Amino acid sequence: MSERIPEEKLNKILTSTDIVDVVSDYVQLKKQGRNYFGLCPFHGENTPSFSVSPDKQIFHCFGCGAGGNAFTFLMDVDGLTFLEAAQKLGAKIGEEISIQTSSTGNSLPPQEDEKQMLEAHELLSKFYHHLLLNTKEGQEALEYLLSRGFTTESITKFQIGWSLPSWDFTVKFLQKRGYSLEIMEQAGLLVRRERDDSFLDRFRGRIMFPITNTKGNTVAFSGRSIGSNEEPKYLNSPETKIFNKSSILYHYHEARGSIRRKQQAVLFEGFADVISASEAEVENGVATMGTSLTEQQIGLLKRLTDSVVICYDGDAAGIQAAFRAGNLLVNHQMNIRIATIPEQLDPDDYISKYGAERFQNDVIGASLTFMAFKLRYYKLNKNLNDEGDRLNYIEDILKEITQLSKAVEKDYYLRYLAEDFDLSLDALQQQLFDLEGSTQKKANSSKPVQTQRPVSKKVETKLLPAYQTAERRLIAYMLKDSNVAYKIQEWLAGKNLNIDEHQAIITYLFGYYEEGLPPNASAFIGYLPDERLRRIVTEIEMMSLSEESTEQELLDYVKQVLKHQKMLKIKEKETERKEAERHKDYRKEAQIAMEIVQLRKSL
Ligand code: UTP
Ligand code: MN
Repeated sequence: MSERIPEEKLNKILTSTDIVDVVSDYVQLKKQGRNYFGLCPFHGENTPSFSVSPDKQIFHCFGCGAGGNAFTFLMDVDGLTFLEAAQKLGAKIGEEISIQTSSTGNSLPPQEDEKQMLEAHELLSKFYHHLLLNTKEGQEALEYLLSRGFTTESITKFQIGWSLPSWDFTVKFLQKRGYSLEIMEQAGLLVRRERDDSFLDRFRGRIMFPITNTKGNTVAFSGRSIGSNEEPKYLNSPETKIFNKSSILYHYHEARGSIRRKQQAVLFEGFADVISASEAEVENGVATMGTSLTEQQIGLLKRLTDSVVICYDGDAAGIQAAFRAGNLLVNHQMNIRIATIPEQLDPDDYISKYGAERFQNDVIGASLTFMAFKLRYYKLNKNLNDEGDRLNYIEDILKEITQLSKAVEKDYYLRYLAEDFDLSLDALQQQLFDLEGSTQKKANSSKPVQTQRPVSKKVETKLLPAYQTAERRLIAYMLKDSNVAYKIQEWLAGKNLNIDEHQAIITYLFGYYEEGLPPNASAFIGYLPDERLRRIVTEIEMMSLSEESTEQELLDYVKQVLKHQKMLKIKEKETERKEAERHKDYRKEAQIAMEIVQLRKSL
């Protein structure tokens, strides 16, 4: 979090706020025992599984897994930033928090020219919208949009507008309101004619899509022609002081709440796709603006979620772009899936043709893992009846298999290849083994391989393996008492918890205790920077028992955690042993077998 509120102020807000009050503004709550229950605002449901605990000052949904404290509730439900949520809560208890706005992230107030630019965009987007909806001049464009299947609601929601075909309508409009035309040119709204240095409208006779920055301010336009032979199809604002194309995603500000709630973003190529998807109730869509995905844009997504569904056009260019974007996202530790659209359609066409439901179920719902997508991707431009092409394809896929992190996955795709091409599994395994040898060095120097996570985040409640439950119990006790936390840390003797997220949570917890903060689950949840971790902590808190534990109980949990690590070690050794066996290195095999015996004894 770059924005900082003084710790005391934050604490004051947190301690004077009652989460039941806050949530009650949005959800009808009924008391049941110690807790309150209601219908979850984050997913559609008919029986209440959303609970609020006044004791713990947290909320948790047993249905969709949403959870957090009063701050994160407002962030999720209203799509607010942390600062905005703090401001809203502060206002409730008469505690004022000032928000400094700036488009660059530093705390200087926006300069005069930026202010004018923003204002002019705001004003024009309203005016263009009015022209489209309510005037004769906008009628043809409106009919075009409606005939494409856009609804009036979404035209309003996305503030779509119409710029008049006149040369200087916007010039006069801005001039009359006292804006400096030089600044308006720098804002990309006007262009200067070289011949006589006069100003002209940049956008003439185009359907206007306002583009907002992360704060929701309109900072640019994209104007679509309605004539089919008018070039370019989309005319965009140039790069300006307030508009940097590579660090903006279309619809990001508006989609933020939905992305956080669903813990998933859908990435499109075009505006039209985002708008149609929104009509199909896919509200977590964003789009790059005719350029390929950038690191800054990934950074924006990563603030909200680790999961992205790439939903690009179904043509060759779209598939190519999806492959590139997918790799980039994976390199940034994102979990991705690829939604493929048949018949070379783009998402917007698909929705017009087949409707919202099929889009949700057959496209977004049936999205592929990246590996499954690659199996198809590498077939492009190859004739698999040709032996050379076939061998190249197999090698491409084997190379991808070497990059997979899980043995089961590797095995699965190897078998798939063997079956699909009628090859011997042994031969494939051997070739994979050789390839792994040659890629090992490269792989070692790069980042750890990312494991693919399923996109939907179902709550992992009841059926957790014992060591995971043990870890959660330990965390529950560590949250309650810092002395217990330090004791458990000692028992773990430098070993990490098996689940990365659990380890991250206790690492933050020690940071929290080191700052001298008292045990308080709700405050700690606010302290966590990551949505996923917050969910886990609320889940743990809501399920944790209030009884005291004996030291023996805690020790048992620690033992289970450590035991799992030894089991993993044994499995690893088993694989090594088999490897040695296959290479007929019997001496090594025997040595590893001894190590396994030792490990088993120590269990
Ligand atoms: P598309 O050609 O797929 O546009 O370009 P679209 O969104 O499907 O639009 P419709 O359905 O034809 O109305 C994808 C994106 O590339 C950018 C725009 O951001 C567009 O949404 N683009 C495209 C441009 O910037 N300029 C162009 O001339 C064309
Ligand atoms: Mn289209």
